Amino acid sequence: MRTHVADHPLIAHKLTTLRDERTDSPTFRQLADELVTLLAYEATRDVRVETVTVRTPVADAEGIKLATPKPLVVPILRAGLGMLDGMMRLLPTAEVGFLGMVRNEQTLEASTYAERLPEDLSGRQCYVLDPMLATGGTLAAAIRFLVERGADHITAICLLTAPEGCARLEKELEGLDIPVTVVTAGMDERLNEKGYIVPGLGDAGDRLYGVV
Ligand code: URA
Repeated sequence: MRTHVADHPLIAHKLTTLRDERTDSPTFRQLADELVTLLAYEATRDVRVETVTVRTPVADAEGIKLATPKPLVVPILRAGLGMLDGMMRLLPTAEVGFLGMVRNEQTLEASTYAERLPEDLSGRQCYVLDPMLATGGTLAAAIRFLVERGADHITAICLLTAPEGCARLEKELEGLDIPVTVVTAGMDERLNEKGYIVPGLGDAGDRLYGVV
């Protein structure tokens, strides 16, 4: 597994405002959307392409287009939904599959409560959207789910990560024979006793959509 912390002043600026507890939900949603688009640019460096030739008004030109099968974008419900538009802005022809995962706040273990994904993901590149890589349990379970269906290349986009989550992900995915990359705007210090990222930004789902 490879972790890439995107280093850019615009990313750091937007992340700082996201962290600020005074940032209201509409502003948080807008900033998360913009941040994901910037992260998506980094995350799609190795998106699969094929060469094509197009005819310009002057001559033939060699170029590329996205290869088929098209990439699959997988937001993890609920907070990952807040990242979908920002991702699709750069990959408008990608398909979208949904995975609902919930974390038991006592055991911190993740389980699947909903899914709408192709049965066969053979040969598919998947971009998983999960804002907070905290304990790593949810993302590890989501990645295993996709690999069991045949996905052979996985990139996770996370707004923030914690070292404990990255370490767990690395351990749980050991022996997996496919490339897994995490692209994030920041690697924070640690988790607290409730499994929240410190300093983090709080509960991403609540800040996007309110406490429901
Ligand atoms: N999920 C969140 O939304 N925030 C955290 O800090 C950890 C998990």
